[in-house]
Amino acid sequence: MNKLNGPAAYVKLPPPHADAPPPETAFSLDILLQLLRREKMTLLGSVLLGLALGLLFLIFFTTPRYSTTTTGMLDSNSAQIVDLASVVGSLAGDTSEITTELEVLRSRKLLEQVVDRMDLMQDPEFNPRLAPPGLLQGLLSQVKSWLPSSSFDLDPAQNDKVTLDAVTERLTQSLSVRNIPNSLVFSVTATTRNPLKSAELADAVVLTYIDDQLVLKTGGLDDASDWLSERVTALYQELQDAETELSAFNISTDLISPEQLTGMNYQLKDIRSRIAALETSRLGLETELAAQGPGAPAGLTDNIDRIRSQIDALQTSGDMLEEKLRHQSLEQIELNRITREVAAQQELYEYFLRRLRETTSMTGMQAPDSRILSRATINLFPSSPSVPTLLTIFAVLGLLTGAGLVLWRERQTRTFRTAEDLEKFTGRRVLGQVPMVPARARKDVIGYLADKPTSAAAEAIRNLRTSVLLTDTQRPPQIIGTTSAVPSEGKTTTALALAQNFIGLGQKVLLIEGDIRRRIFGEYLTVDEDGGLIAVMEGRIALQDAVVQYDKVKADILVAGTSTQNAADLFSSQGFERMLEEARKTYDTIIIDTAPVLLVPDARIIARHVDAMLFVVAWDSTSKEQVTAALGMFDGLGVQISGLVLNQVDPKGMKRYGHAGRYGAYAAYGSKYYTN
Ligand SMILES: Nc1ncnc2c1ncn2[C@@H]1O[C@H](COP(=O)(O)OP(=O)(O)O)[C@@H](O)[C@H]1O
Ligand SMILES: [Mg+2]
Repeated sequence: MNKLNGPAAYVKLPPPHADAPPPETAFSLDILLQLLRREKMTLLGSVLLGLALGLLFLIFFTTPRYSTTTTGMLDSNSAQIVDLASVVGSLAGDTSEITTELEVLRSRKLLEQVVDRMDLMQDPEFNPRLAPPGLLQGLLSQVKSWLPSSSFDLDPAQNDKVTLDAVTERLTQSLSVRNIPNSLVFSVTATTRNPLKSAELADAVVLTYIDDQLVLKTGGLDDASDWLSERVTALYQELQDAETELSAFNISTDLISPEQLTGMNYQLKDIRSRIAALETSRLGLETELAAQGPGAPAGLTDNIDRIRSQIDALQTSGDMLEEKLRHQSLEQIELNRITREVAAQQELYEYFLRRLRETTSMTGMQAPDSRILSRATINLFPSSPSVPTLLTIFAVLGLLTGAGLVLWRERQTRTFRTAEDLEKFTGRRVLGQVPMVPARARKDVIGYLADKPTSAAAEAIRNLRTSVLLTDTQRPPQIIGTTSAVPSEGKTTTALALAQNFIGLGQKVLLIEGDIRRRIFGEYLTVDEDGGLIAVMEGRIALQDAVVQYDKVKADILVAGTSTQNAADLFSSQGFERMLEEARKTYDTIIIDTAPVLLVPDARIIARHVDAMLFVVAWDSTSKEQVTAALGMFDGLGVQISGLVLNQVDPKGMKRYGHAGRYGAYAAYGSKYYTN
């Protein structure tokens, strides 16, 4: 089972340690804001993507509609030439009347006129029959053609009516009529697929309404003048009748002149007074006759007789005259009546004639009650879909998706990107942060550090060394181990770099390849495979005989060597302890590179014998679970990890994650101080 070689040599990863603390899940607002700030480019990108999608949606999935509005005014105070209020209804301007007028604007009758005016029957937008059939419609008509022909076969006229109804219905839907509260102003908004058409349509509705009003009004006038002329005709007839009667009466009557009448009255008076005088003289003569008796002269009697006959004659002519006078006055009364009637008739006739004339002249000069306040303007920005609204929605959706993505990714991030993260998570100190150095091979890393002692990486190693020595100021660690959770985090590289660095201090350094299962030193160094650590532990060879040297690392190096024994058993053996005892005496510093903790127990066993144990964490690579599990294993043994090393930190990656300039000298501004 010890035949272990190459990266695949380790057994599979064990499940994370059971005692591992639950991974951090809760985000504080602070962290969230920091995260969003850090990810602003991602967010910007998702907003732009949202906008692009919105534009595509606008172009391919929406039909832009353009709205425009015509405003008009219901004018109740238009100048009236004559008071026609009694003849033709005019707007009084109260609310109910305005509402009524708005209903008129919306009415089918009016809209049908608009359909006519705008020739909407020929417009595919309004006439569904002219529109190219959609997928669904095509399917429906296909299905229809299979069914027995419907019983609702319409004749062409009915068909036209149905179409007109459909067109009018669509027109209704594309219009909105509003009244500005407490005013006589109304607005008609038309929405169609064409800005020009919208403008024409809105105007057309208002113009049609105004025309319609005019027709109504002049129609009313026609009615009025018809009625008036009828009346006038009738009155004229009556007047004529009256006049005829008057003239006929005039002809038939023997009415005398007033002078004559007065004369006749005088004459009658005269006759009366003469009769009275004659009566008096007759009475005197008769008294004389009675007094004289029979002997009265005959002349007296003759006289009395003559007077009598005179009285009779006068009486007769007086009666005649009286009769004549009575008749005359009756005639006069009749004449007066007829004359009055004619006059009245005349007046009535003339009144109506005048009205008729006025009304007839109005017909040509009638102004509508309403007028256009402002015509529709051509609006080139579609009203629906509202481009700003839609784009805003898409941008916000993009932003939300982006933010969600960032959060999700952040939660998925189970690695460490900053020393701060690492310290917070593990509760242990980070002693060093080693940047990624440009290296194609393992050898290059050590070569790089040797060749560029002023580089950020070399500086980082120097800092690490100092920090390690400072972990115990009383007794600076002499034996330093490097370990990590999984392979390839940089245990070996760190061990080599530290060794190199301690050499730089002028110390005598021993570097032990404790990862005996992989024996990777061969890849860094050209060493003799013979001898090595195992041989020393097994007591087959003396330590000083087993160490080798490498040109880049001036330390004494004890490579693993080969063994048939189990590695863990070897490190648990007396041989290992004895070897370290001996090394302590010979060397200033002993560095042991070990195997990954999660795979094999070696590091834990070695940890018992070291003064300081460094735990390497590969930047943005080792997962939180792995770190937790590995550290938990040391805790279980009661072995303290002296500190952590964040290795292979990528300055560009740091920048990308928004940590630039905040962590470590090599980040961002570090380039000013260090050569790479
Ligand atoms: N700071 C670094 N910069 C660049 N490459 C590194 C760095 N640290 C380690 N590497 C490379 O990563 C790989 C694994 O390193 P290594 O030290 O062998 O890991 P481990 O001993 O933990 O398995 C090697 O190819 C090494 O060259
Ligand atoms: Mg290694």
